[in-house]
Amino acid sequence: MDFLTSYQQRIAASLSAFNYGKTPEGLYNPIDYLLNLGGKRLRSVLVLMGCEAFGTDAEKALPAAKAVEVFHNFTLMHDDIMDKASKRRGAQTVHEKWDVNTAILSGDAMLIQAYECLNSYDASQFSVLTKLLSKTALEVCEGQQFDVAFEQRTDVRIDEYLEMIRLKTAVLVGCSMQMGAVVGGASKKDAELLYQFGEQLGIAFQLQDDYLDTFGDAASFGKRIGGDIAENKKTILVHLAMQLGSATQKTALQAWLNQVPKDETKKIKAVTQLFKDTTADQATLNEVRIFTQKAFESLDKVALGEDHKQRFYDFGRWLMERTH
Ligand code: IPE
Ligand code: IPE
Ligand code: MG
Ligand code: MG
Ligand code: MG
Repeated sequence: MDFLTSYQQRIAASLSAFNYGKTPEGLYNPIDYLLNLGGKRLRSVLVLMGCEAFGTDAEKALPAAKAVEVFHNFTLMHDDIMDKASKRRGAQTVHEKWDVNTAILSGDAMLIQAYECLNSYDASQFSVLTKLLSKTALEVCEGQQFDVAFEQRTDVRIDEYLEMIRLKTAVLVGCSMQMGAVVGGASKKDAELLYQFGEQLGIAFQLQDDYLDTFGDAASFGKRIGGDIAENKKTILVHLAMQLGSATQKTALQAWLNQVPKDETKKIKAVTQLFKDTTADQATLNEVRIFTQKAFESLDKVALGEDHKQRFYDFGRWLMERTH
């Protein structure tokens, strides 16, 4: 999708010199490192797209797009400590390349820098944007806490899981859409509908991230395959396998989830096989389609011409087909 590449390039250009010349290097280098590893920049692209859809030059939304991208990267820096992840975007995570203290402090600095990006807006937009970011940021913390707490539980219900992923992932996608709409001059109603579109798309996105964590290709996904299984994450795959599996399959899965094995590889292999045998893998992809469809239903209601909305539908379909 050509339009995506051009948005991504604009964001990359504005992020590339983000901390240029700042000291101490020990604080700023890890930030530049992570930001320059790239990523899909999907949240910041949505900010620009949201703004342009209402006839305002995307340039006006660039500071908000930067804020969202820096905030997202901050969450990843801390998330990788919490998930004991060694790889991100095909490279070493910050706490592996440097150390945990560095990843904590550089992450903290990024959260502050994210807010600083919003300083260029006039008082009334600044107030709306910072309120939205603060509400979202706290929700992300709530979601992350649920995610980690669920590792220790074996009785997590699917509704609890869906609320956890709404908080840790989807609200930021919704926030990105709404920020773009606000800067672009959308009506309150349209800005809220676009938030809902982003939120549902964000849920679909996290379901697929869960799928790719087990069934993706390490080279394109850029993260360790099987990391969620090793960490006993209660992903959509676990929920669906427990719904669809036979009594024997469910008992086998429960047994693996209660174990901290010496050989993680063996556990990853066995649990992956159970996800396949129970058809939880295919059922997950089906849920991705269902939530993407729900997202499109909110988009249908936005008071924009079909030609303006086409890009968002294309974006949703592109997201569904991703392998990274
Ligand atoms: C990773 O987000 C964190 C999740 C919410 C699954 P992305 O998959 O958007 O990460 P990058 O920015 O493209 O690397
Ligand atoms: C991440 O969820 C959500 C946030 C970073 C807030 P994951 O832990 O599934 O993300 P990845 O898979 O490490 O990118
Ligand atoms: Mg996590
Ligand atoms: Mg993680
Ligand atoms: Mg994940």
